[in-house]
Amino acid sequence: MSDDNYLDVRDLDAGYGRSQVLFGVNLSVPWRGGVAILGRNGAGKTTLMKAIIGELPVLGGSVSLDSRSVGALPTEQRVRLGMGYVPQEHSVFGRLSVRENLAVGALTNRDGGAVDRVLETFPKLGQRMDQVAGTLSGGERKMLAIARALLSDPRLLLLDEPTEGVWIGVIEEITERLILLAREIAVVIVEQHLDLALRVADRALVLDRGRVAITGSAQQVRDDPRLLQYLAP
Ligand SMILES: Nc1ncnc2c1ncn2[C@@H]1O[C@H](COP(=O)(O)OP(=O)(O)OP(=O)(O)O)[C@@H](O)[C@H]1O
Ligand SMILES: [Mg+2]
Repeated sequence: MSDDNYLDVRDLDAGYGRSQVLFGVNLSVPWRGGVAILGRNGAGKTTLMKAIIGELPVLGGSVSLDSRSVGALPTEQRVRLGMGYVPQEHSVFGRLSVRENLAVGALTNRDGGAVDRVLETFPKLGQRMDQVAGTLSGGERKMLAIARALLSDPRLLLLDEPTEGVWIGVIEEITERLILLAREIAVVIVEQHLDLALRVADRALVLDRGRVAITGSAQQVRDDPRLLQYLAP
């Protein structure tokens, strides 16, 4: 464990009931910068996010935040300690308005200007405050989910496919925000678009059937001759 890292995942085993999905996964995330999690469908990317945020129990190994073991803490406490999470699915309250979704996100934030600041980051949301979130476009919904997660002032943001189902023009807008964000805080991004992932991230980890297959700098992973084999369906 190193003080240089904010999040340390060591020898992590996780899964669903008796079906083990992750086997001995190691992941270190510095205080600032992006780490991309890559791998084909079913490789275990979402499972890794869920184990880090506490939606799945740690079956073996450890999850530490700022050198403190958090593997036994419930999700709310991990959020209070500095983790934010944008899940791959069900990332907003579909029946609530944009304004109400943001109000829920801001519950733990004493800073009254926090909502205004996330609206500066995602100005499109400001024009849709009274719209029911379930009727937003894919891109708007992802922006709302990211904005909501930012309202708890995370020092680490876990993003599970933040551009899935998003129109290409809006993908660029979201990517630019994430690049700026990764200069301030730690960002772990699961992303199918390799180029986009490696623009946000300076490090990357490739999962193959629940095990770490490649890990290193974004450049090293991009140049690894095995990469395409691990990303191919
Ligand atoms: N709730 C669940 N119960 C049982 N098995 C599950 C559950 N959720 C996922 N799995 C299995 O765990 C494995 C990893 O799934 P996971 O969702 O982590 O993959 P992923 O890398 O995020 O894939 P994708 O790119 O499609 O989102 C898959 O074999 C999947 O079928
Ligand atoms: Mg997934």
